[in-house]
Parts: sequence; C-alpha cells; structure tokens
Amino acid sequence: MAKIAPSILAADFSELGRDVRRLSSEGADYLHIDIMDGVFVPNISFGPDVMKSILGDAGAPFDVHLMITEPVRYIDRFVTDNTEFITVHYEACADLDATLKTIKEHGVKAGVSIKPGTEPDVLDAFLKDIDLVLVMSVEPGFGGQKFMDSSLAKIRYYKEKREEEGLGYVIEVDGGLSSANSHLVREAGADIIVAGSAVFKAPDMAAEIRGICG
Ligand code: DX5
Ligand code: ZN
Repeated sequence: MAKIAPSILAADFSELGRDVRRLSSEGADYLHIDIMDGVFVPNISFGPDVMKSILGDAGAPFDVHLMITEPVRYIDRFVTDNTEFITVHYEACADLDATLKTIKEHGVKAGVSIKPGTEPDVLDAFLKDIDLVLVMSVEPGFGGQKFMDSSLAKIRYYKEKREEEGLGYVIEVDGGLSSANSHLVREAGADIIVAGSAVFKAPDMAAEIRGICG
C-alpha cells in the first residue's frame, strides 16, 4: 500500500483550514504543499506564511514541493516542527549538493524532483544524499493535468537503483493521479502518491484516498 500526500493546491483557499482538517481526518499521510514562484514555473501559488497558517489544522506532516528558482535562498522559511520533507527541483539549483546540505542542516529530510523532460540518471551522483525522489508525471505548474506515463519508467529506474545500491530514499510521484490510474505508479514502485484535484473533486474523499493508496 502506498502513502498519499494530497495537494492543498486544489483546496478552497477561502476555507483552507477546514479543507486541511478534512484531509487529515480522511486519511492523508502527508500534506503536499506546492510552492510556485512564477519564474521556475508559469504560475504563482502561495508562500510560507500561508503554509504556516494551517499548522494548527494539520494533522499530517508537511511535504513541501518547491517549484522555485534557486530554492536554497528560501529553505529556512519552510522549516517548521511539522515539516518532514522539503523537495527542490534538480533543474532549479545551481549547486544541488549545497542545497541538500542546507535542507538537512535544518533537520528536515531532503527531496529532489525531476521534470518530465529530465532523464532520471542526472540524479545518480546525488542519490546517496537524497531522502525522497519526486518524479513529476505532469509539467509542474498546474493541478488538473493529464498523467504522463513516461513517468513509469523513471519510477522503475529509481526503484532498481535503490535496490542495486542499497539506498534508502522514498519514491514519490506527482501529477494527474487518481484512484483510476494510481495502480500504474504503485506497480512501478511509488511509495508516496500526490493527488490534488482527484481528492478534492471526489464525491467521497475518504474512498478516493483509499483507492489511490491501493
Ligand atoms: C503540479 C503540482 C502538483 C499538483 C497535483 O505542479 O506539483 O502537486 O497540485 O495536482 P493534480 O493531482 O490535480 O494533478
Ligand atoms: Zn507538487
């Protein structure tokens, strides 16, 4: 069974506290926090103050996905007692080693994401220092897009690599996932599944969450 990290990007921002409490009570393992800067991706979401405003409602740890250029500049802003993972994009970091080090110095687990057009082996030299690999199954920037099955070979790649090299990272996949297609990524080896619109649009949120986890 996979874990689920529902994305609050699909929540009703005027009722964010209510939606976050609902996610937690209906089975979210993590709360996926999508941060977009309008530069690395062509969209702007929200910043660390909004994330911190839901701390009192969050029954699950934060899984922060930074879609921002040179995220090393802002890592400390996303560190809270409830932050389990901070994930940065390989494509957004001039010095990935230093960025990972900065995340870990704050006592937070370090994740790295690759966009759909990025080959999985670019992370080979970093995998020993990575706690989470995030495979994007849509172009980052927007919720509600169609799942790209080119992500499946990448999930398999990271699963095999982890076995071969005896590494300990978890594999997460993000974009276009629902109870209808999540079996594909579970079978490929995903440990954590991100889902935004499917969770919030479902007539029965708890059933959708269970269906995604398998
Ligand atoms: C896309 C974000 C995703 C997005 C997922 O850039 O990283 O986390 O919110 O939304 P759905 O599940 O609707 O594709
Ligand atoms: Zn995300």
